[in-house]
Amino acid sequence: MDEITVKQYYNDYIIGCYGRENFVFVRGKGPWLWDINGKKYLDFFPGWAVSGLGHCPPKVVTALTKQVKTLMHVANNYYNDVQALCAKKLIDISFDGKVFFCNSGAEANEAAIKLSRLYGAKTGRYKIISMLNSFHGRTLATVTMTGQEKYSAPFKPLPDGFAYARFNDMSSLQSAVDEKTVAVIVEPIQGEGGINVADKSYMQSLREFCNKHDLLLIFDEVQTGMGRTGKWFAFQHYGVQPDIMTLAKTLGGGFPIGATIARKGISDLLVPGTHASTFGGNPLACAAAMAVMETIEEENLCENVSNLSGWFMSELKKLQEKFQVIKEVRGIGFMIGMELHVSGKSFVERCRNNGLLLNCTHDTVIRIMPPLGIKKSLLKKGLAIIRQSLQEEFPINEEKKRPA
Ligand SMILES: Cc1ncc(COP(=O)(O)O)c(C=O)c1O
Repeated sequence: MDEITVKQYYNDYIIGCYGRENFVFVRGKGPWLWDINGKKYLDFFPGWAVSGLGHCPPKVVTALTKQVKTLMHVANNYYNDVQALCAKKLIDISFDGKVFFCNSGAEANEAAIKLSRLYGAKTGRYKIISMLNSFHGRTLATVTMTGQEKYSAPFKPLPDGFAYARFNDMSSLQSAVDEKTVAVIVEPIQGEGGINVADKSYMQSLREFCNKHDLLLIFDEVQTGMGRTGKWFAFQHYGVQPDIMTLAKTLGGGFPIGATIARKGISDLLVPGTHASTFGGNPLACAAAMAVMETIEEENLCENVSNLSGWFMSELKKLQEKFQVIKEVRGIGFMIGMELHVSGKSFVERCRNNGLLLNCTHDTVIRIMPPLGIKKSLLKKGLAIIRQSLQEEFPINEEKKRPA
């Protein structure tokens, strides 16, 4: 199939709910992607964090190939060995609880919402407080929970039971809570909201506050989880454990899977008949997730992220000194935001034309999330493209492109 036909078919047959860049990708390996014309790109935003181990990670490919010949799907009214192993492994690396498997981040958050409502039922509580600038998914409930009106406004009337507080602001949370509140959901680092990192003191106060008021604390680690920050989960940086945690993206290494982990005492509220997902925990997805966890462990990927992120961030901060257009460099591990004083869209396009894939969120924040196992030499290559693209886009002496 040629490039023009692919685009024509998209135009004719695929609902246009995505803004698409002008590229057709046909192959991926590790940190590299190839377009239909054979041009190679270094991918520092692989699949919006789905391909956290890079494209087509070998152990995941082997596990899927083996599993696809053994058993692809078995319904959840039966047991299967791969789901059992995967759940045990997830609990071993997170906290004492149980797992509900599904297929996406939004679905994992839906399970967290339903669990919270069951928890609150005996006291008549149902409201969940989420943070402004958060992102939790696109289903009607999760888009309502997402603290950005632009995503939910077209779909009114929205489901009841959601309220919002400012991120990193305990007094805002205190004002948002009322007698109907049952849970608080937070991303330890807001991803889509612009790589906003939760303060340690805020996370600790959040835990104490939730304990005091019998509120469930939910961490959405769909983007921050599975090694992205240099630990299995971002909560492990804070010394604060959630009651419920949601996962997806890197968990499947490119294969769709989501998971909701609830601590003991909460998890058993979901009894037969209360919740389900036909494909949830299917052997293929669980085999992929097992291979992802084994790869992270065997290849010391959390260590790789921790070892390289300090150096990488300091190199980006050096660029900040040189290019006044860079407002701030922030993040943890390989979840990095480089905020500009101006819109970042054309800078991201320029990087792409120069062979590096990045993302721009919240208009001005460049999201940089290299694969966890990337080598220093390739980080250097990416940095060189970022530097070159900054030079081309914001020439140092070109005053008019600088912030006012
Ligand atoms: C923090 C967070 N939660 C939930 C979601 C929704 O995940 P999905 O698109 O798999 O439904 C996303 C997606 O970007 C996310 O970043």
